[in-house]
Amino acid sequence: MTTTSVGERVERVRAIATGLRDLRGPLLPILHAVQRELGHVDAQDVPVIADALNLAVAEVHGVATFYRDFRSAPGGRTTVRICQAEACRAVGAEALGAHARRRLGVGFGETTSDGAVTLDEVFCLGNCALGPAAQVDGRLHGRVTPARFDALLGEAR
Ligand code: FES
Repeated sequence: MTTTSVGERVERVRAIATGLRDLRGPLLPILHAVQRELGHVDAQDVPVIADALNLAVAEVHGVATFYRDFRSAPGGRTTVRICQAEACRAVGAEALGAHARRRLGVGFGETTSDGAVTLDEVFCLGNCALGPAAQVDGRLHGRVTPARFDALLGEAR
């Protein structure tokens, strides 16, 4: 993502919202598009989207904060997502999650203070037979042990 000024961001968000507002149920696609293009859904984006859709600000805010998919602050340069759903938990995903939090010094949904890594939990990556599953910058990995996690992190940093 490139750095944008506040004014440019408002214009871009307005253009995204206007471009998608005729969809059926446009709010989620708009929020996804803003996050994809601008890295996160900022608090200042919410009134712009609400205005374009003729919705209450509180309504847009409620949806943007309800879904874990949307982050309210810029993410790290690398995003690590660890599956915490049932099948992966049965083969050590909880321990892997604890290891990742300890190793990075952040909780799920947080970014390391140097801005390098954002750690997220997800609930199923569609790789259940090869748990514990993790995704590093969109790339899926299976049978991720703590040692393998460290190696993946080393490659990504
Ligand atoms: S339960 Fe972890 S990938 Fe499906």
